[in-house]
Amino acid sequence: MSTSPSILLLSGSLRTGSSNESVLRTAQAVAPAHVRTVLYAGLAALPHFNPDDDIDPLPAPVAELRAAIDAATAILICAPEYAGTLPGSFKNLLDWTVGGTEICDKPVAWVNAAAAGRGRGAEATLRTVMGYTGADIVESACVSVPVDRGTVGADGIITDEGVREQLGAVLGRLLAPR
Ligand SMILES: Cc1cc2nc3c(=O)[nH]c(=O)nc-3n(C[C@H](O)[C@H](O)[C@H](O)COP(=O)(O)O)c2cc1C
Repeated sequence: MSTSPSILLLSGSLRTGSSNESVLRTAQAVAPAHVRTVLYAGLAALPHFNPDDDIDPLPAPVAELRAAIDAATAILICAPEYAGTLPGSFKNLLDWTVGGTEICDKPVAWVNAAAAGRGRGAEATLRTVMGYTGADIVESACVSVPVDRGTVGADGIITDEGVREQLGAVLGRLLAPR
């Protein structure tokens, strides 16, 4: 079995050309070779959360989500703010995690990709929900990295060296022994 650390990357945006997803794609690009990164791609396939369905056997997309969380050493989230909070689709994902134990004690951080001073409502909601999951929030890795869409290449990866350095530091802090 591999002992390499792995980071599950969760984007809160379904939008094509998402700047939040570009942050996570860039984190993948700058991750050290020994760190495995997995960009979760199942957000759109998750059913609406219903406690009646939060039983075995779980809906397949939910089982896949929980397995991906379970397999990860740590989780990095990048989600936009919609109407002062998280997008409903991403809150739905988080609701599916509350009934499981996979996130409990797992290092979790988020990057706020919004312009300076924006996105605080989404961050506050993330903090509240993560409190219910028992996640180990790595405060030093929760940072604001405003994304200038002009610096996102055709491959969805950010070219700005300062941003890339910041994201590399985030990964390091997320995985650092504490
Ligand atoms: C329906 C909707 C509501 C939004 N509400 C907010 C908001 O409350 N605060 C904010 O800072 N930005 C808000 N925005 C802007 C988005 O957060 C911003 O466009 C973000 O970059 C989208 O992320 P993405 O590029 O990853 O899709 C909103 C955008 C949409 C479409």
